[in-house]
Amino acid sequence: VIQPIATRLFPIGVEVVETCEPGDERTLLLGEASDVASAVRKRRLEFAAGRSCARGALAALGIAAQPLRVAADRRPHWPLGVLGSITHTDGYCAAACASRGSFAGVGIDAERVGRLQPELWPDICTPRESAWLASLPPHERAAMATLIFSAKEAYYKCQYEYTRAWLDFHDVEVTIDGDRFTVGARGTAAPAGRFVIENTLVVTGIAMAATAASAAR
Ligand SMILES: CC(C)(COP(=O)(O)OP(=O)(O)OC[C@H]1O[C@@H](n2cnc3c(N)ncnc32)[C@H](O)[C@@H]1OP(=O)(O)O)[C@@H](O)C(=O)NCCC(=O)NCCS
Repeated sequence: VIQPIATRLFPIGVEVVETCEPGDERTLLLGEASDVASAVRKRRLEFAAGRSCARGALAALGIAAQPLRVAADRRPHWPLGVLGSITHTDGYCAAACASRGSFAGVGIDAERVGRLQPELWPDICTPRESAWLASLPPHERAAMATLIFSAKEAYYKCQYEYTRAWLDFHDVEVTIDGDRFTVGARGTAAPAGRFVIENTLVVTGIAMAATAASAAR
């Protein structure tokens, strides 16, 4: 049993629901099952867990349960007036949702420490991030490399909502400060995100206020 994590990641106005339980395919709504019909069972279960968390977060915003189909670019197709983000990793799944009037994008990402092999760190980290990792005690590096990776994935999901842009890992740079991080991207504001690390689980969340996003354009 873990302490609630996702609720610590976002400002007021972003609703989050998380679970450590595997999903149940019987909870999928019309059309959703066909979106993952050809996928392996593990994928169908994580998809179901994500949809279930998302429906919980939407309910907290007062939005009735409805199918959340997979868009052509693979993001979830959110109901009118809302946006959100879903993540899943081994033994953990979460979804965050918010009103479009207040937020331009939200991103959530969960990763397990140990999955990202050190030989891949240079693909994820800029030279400055790599130098920062190298300056840390060796036993802290894997968790911090995972945190940089997760922060970039959360940022990618968040910004995709209002830019529809694909980003390379070297296009943005993460700075970690206490339990916060910022992600700087060329030509855009650097929104602040929050993170939680519990044992091997790293979860990052980032929200872009609607006004901040329009100012950055
Ligand atoms: C899409 C992506 C971010 C998913 O991250 P992941 O760590 O592999 O997997 P997660 O479980 O955390 O997230 C998967 C969820 O992301 C969501 N997603 C997929 N494409 C998305 C997009 N373009 N925008 C926002 N969310 C997206 C979906 O909800 C998906 O779950 P679902 O299919 O069950 O609904 C990642 O696979 C990817 O393609 N990244 C692109 C490159 C990148 O991250 N660059 C970072 C540079 S800043």
